[in-house]
Amino acid sequence: MSAPASEREATGVFSPGRARILARTLRVDRWWLSPLLTTLGLATFIVYATVRAFVRSAYWVEEYHYLTPFYSPCLSESCVPGSSHFGTPFPELPMWIPLNFLILPLLLGFRVTCYYYRKAYYRSIWLSPPACAVAEPHGRYTGETRLPLIIQNAHRYFFYAAVIISLINTYDAILAFHGEGGGFGFGLGNVILVVNVTLLWAYTLSCHSCRHVTGGRLKHFSAHPIRYWIWTQVSKLNTRHMQFAWITLGTLMLTDFYVMLVASNTISDLRFVG
Ligand code: FES
Repeated sequence: MSAPASEREATGVFSPGRARILARTLRVDRWWLSPLLTTLGLATFIVYATVRAFVRSAYWVEEYHYLTPFYSPCLSESCVPGSSHFGTPFPELPMWIPLNFLILPLLLGFRVTCYYYRKAYYRSIWLSPPACAVAEPHGRYTGETRLPLIIQNAHRYFFYAAVIISLINTYDAILAFHGEGGGFGFGLGNVILVVNVTLLWAYTLSCHSCRHVTGGRLKHFSAHPIRYWIWTQVSKLNTRHMQFAWITLGTLMLTDFYVMLVASNTISDLRFVG
């Protein structure tokens, strides 16, 4: 609960000149529903991804070469044979280190510093502010000017890493067109992997940093028609960035879950070819 207005610093909604309203909000609608759903959605993904990152089983389907994105790239000698598409430069890892330890911080950094996710967790988890016309409980506001939030400014570097990770996921999806006896094969798992990686590209390329990389710092668009065209396409994608942010959380979990079910022989992959 927020402190009474009289005890608060004269900043933010308690600044001189603002209306002196003691109630935290005068809204009577269910303004808390959106922050609550956002928190539940993010928490579901974090719990699922954390559990899956540490279980170290059912992440590779040897017959069809399906590899879950949660374990890609698998670069350690602890990885099951066949799942390491880029070799095993790292030795066996203790159980408390996830097998994709190299990529995990980059992926996490990309999502955590994403402009959309910032809006989501600033509002829903830090309540800063939780909704329009609802005062935040914090007494001071320092923005992204000091640690740890100043790290948000590194988002563009996480974007470069995310492009490389999307390329790796694309490579995994191509290798997965593998039949049981070798050669070409195609099943429901391929559809899921390809849809997942396509949506990951949509999320990555709709990033605000991508927009800046493609069309930022140009004084005259007319002098750079190709960059202008790319920037225009990225800008169209960018209007859907929030949707891609949520959809890819869902498709990542769905893809991993499907690979887990097939890899653990809980279900059989629906095969169309091979
Ligand atoms: Fe969301 Fe870059 S990934 S703004």
